[in-house]
Amino acid sequence: MLIQENLSLKPYNTFGVDISARYFAEVHSVEELIETLQSSNAQTLPLLFLGGGSNILLTKDFDGLAIRLSLKGIKEEIINENEVLVTAKAGENWHQFVMYCLEKNYGGLENLSLIPGNVGTSPMQNIGAYGTEIKDVFESCKVLNLDTSEIETFYLEQCRFGYRDSIFKQEGKGKYVILEVTFRLTTTNHKIDVEYGAIEAELENLEIVNPTIQDVSKAVINIRQSKLPDPKVIGNAGSFFKNPTIPIAQFEALKQQFENIPGYPNGDFVKVPAGWLIEQAGWKGKQIGNVASNQLQALVIINATGNATGKEIFDFSTMIIDSVKEKYGIELEREVNII
Ligand code: EPU
Repeated sequence: MLIQENLSLKPYNTFGVDISARYFAEVHSVEELIETLQSSNAQTLPLLFLGGGSNILLTKDFDGLAIRLSLKGIKEEIINENEVLVTAKAGENWHQFVMYCLEKNYGGLENLSLIPGNVGTSPMQNIGAYGTEIKDVFESCKVLNLDTSEIETFYLEQCRFGYRDSIFKQEGKGKYVILEVTFRLTTTNHKIDVEYGAIEAELENLEIVNPTIQDVSKAVINIRQSKLPDPKVIGNAGSFFKNPTIPIAQFEALKQQFENIPGYPNGDFVKVPAGWLIEQAGWKGKQIGNVASNQLQALVIINATGNATGKEIFDFSTMIIDSVKEKYGIELEREVNII
């Protein structure tokens, strides 16, 4: 076990923010993780667990022990003629895992192609895109309980998945480390979900009539590449805010004033695309200092010059929140974890 001192976390967060951690350790197994947690630093200092670093914004040097989870491995268990349970360790890269499943012709994850990050953080915020969320294919996950040092299994119901939400962001926050995740995928009779308008349009563009799961993945990759910046090239953390859900009455009132406002009914609420609100408030493509709102998808905040500090990005996001609030009376909530 190697604990490094004063290490820059720049390579470990997709915003590319240059912030350091007082101590840093990379762990490759549960044993190594437990050993690290038993070290005197871990007993006395705050802990920060890092997965792919694709959903965090580091705003100040971290005066504690950052632990990067690099547990690797994938295993499979065919459970009936139509389904397989596939388990991936927390440190597996999400997109490579999705590609592995597609090569084996396991269905269920194709709409989630090209999402940055690692498998271990996928349940935290119930990652979702193009009509699918991981809760739709989630079987269970194994976690280390930091209070008891026991390994526990969480099944679907216990995870309390919601829109970009789970128990791990609520009551369980800071209590568990996700070690591996098991998904229930199909081996035949795949359920193809192409209802999301953009996928339908892209499949038409590719002249595909009866799409396979691999075709759906290709369409999703094309759509994402057309408007979401590659974090390896331009620092970002995907959607910076959640799409707000507002009461129907509030939406109807806004519609009187802004007749083009889009909204998707969601029970007694209406989900309004935050990207639209941000664009209409004049932020799309706008740059202040080193930070900008992405020109092709206003919901994504980018480290435009590569030199942005976490504080600058945070302040930029506050300006967006204030300006959307002033124009529409809607308070945007950050999706990215602020550290
Ligand atoms: N829109 C604009 N201007 C913009 C961006 C969006 O007007 O600059 C409007 C358009 O009307 C568009 C609508 O917003 O039709 C929805 O846009 P898009 O399909 O790009 O999806 P989104 O709601 O902005 C969500 C997820 C994404 C996910 C896509 C596709 C959230 C917070 N974000 O974005 O997830 O990829 O749907 O399913 O729910 C992420 O979480 O990091 C992420 C990228």
